[in-house]
Amino acid sequence: MSEKVMKFTEVKNFTQDLIDWQKKLGRHDLPWQKNRTAYRVWLSEIMLQQTQVSTVLNRYDEFLKIFPSIQCLASATVDEVLAQWSGMGYYTRARNLHRCAQIVMTKYDGVFPSDPKTLKSLPGIGRSTAAAIAVFSYGKRAAILDGNVKRVLARIWGFDQDLSKALHANQLWTHAESLLPHKKSDLIAYTQGLMDFGATHCTQYQPACIDPQNGSCPFKKSCLAHLTERVNQIPLKVKKVKVEKIDMTWWVMIHEDQVLLEKRPQKGIWAGLWCFPESQERPKEPCQTMTAFKHVLTHRQMTIKPIKAHLKKRGFIKENQQWFSLDDLDGLGLPKPMSLFLRNLNLIRDDE
Ligand code: ADE
Repeated sequence: MSEKVMKFTEVKNFTQDLIDWQKKLGRHDLPWQKNRTAYRVWLSEIMLQQTQVSTVLNRYDEFLKIFPSIQCLASATVDEVLAQWSGMGYYTRARNLHRCAQIVMTKYDGVFPSDPKTLKSLPGIGRSTAAAIAVFSYGKRAAILDGNVKRVLARIWGFDQDLSKALHANQLWTHAESLLPHKKSDLIAYTQGLMDFGATHCTQYQPACIDPQNGSCPFKKSCLAHLTERVNQIPLKVKKVKVEKIDMTWWVMIHEDQVLLEKRPQKGIWAGLWCFPESQERPKEPCQTMTAFKHVLTHRQMTIKPIKAHLKKRGFIKENQQWFSLDDLDGLGLPKPMSLFLRNLNLIRDDE
């Protein structure tokens, strides 16, 4: 199919205005903006893919304390990385982080490549993340286009096409590339400006043009979505996520100060994490069916029904099962609802 070239109207001075805005009102004190090594930048970009800045701020330094270098991360076990990722969700990121570190060590002598295309070939690094790493750590000229940036550009240029279609997404990518500043020294401020403006002003709900409490928008006079009163319709939302409903039973087997956990399979929900067994031979001791609770993810709604029993002795266990002292649970990679459940049961301490 021939690629239709989309004509975007000219928005005068957009690039320079955004750079000026970032210098004045953007974020300058985030920990990953200091000492911009590729390792630190890469880690921050992966953490920020599906987690808010406020959460990452609480976890970033701690992660770097445990894994201060790519060598340390690559030589850790995947379980150690998962444990440190615990509570941030989207655990595929942690597994990819570990694999990526190992590839950078073996294939690139421990030095991240600077070319965005090569970066994109690494696990967990998509086109936008590759560009962000290349800009922030190597000063390369590359365009980012994550969800926030798509929203900013689509609104200002009134681009109301379905961005889940490759044709339209590619048109926006080409446009994003055409907006890059020519001066190398402006690339960081411009890229950070896009991220900051999308995250704080041109937000999905209540953007600055609608809610002045969110600041004022420097592009109000040229933003096509605003001028045509379509800010809430752009970018177009088409795909309805299908939510899969899952019922899950947790067998909470307790013996003295230990609980029985099972390592989940490497594929599927919470792959490779420790969880209560989902199927278990019913123990002889009395079992208490506890109040079921829901855990909602983007594509899944789980109803979890815990059944608790205090065992007199530890019986036969499966190969993928292990008894853990309650004191050891903090250091394990546990799915978020497991940590919450254990805390509610007062089975582990809440250090946070
Ligand atoms: N979101 C994604 N990358 C980011 C960064 N480097 N700073 C702030 N927010 C971000």
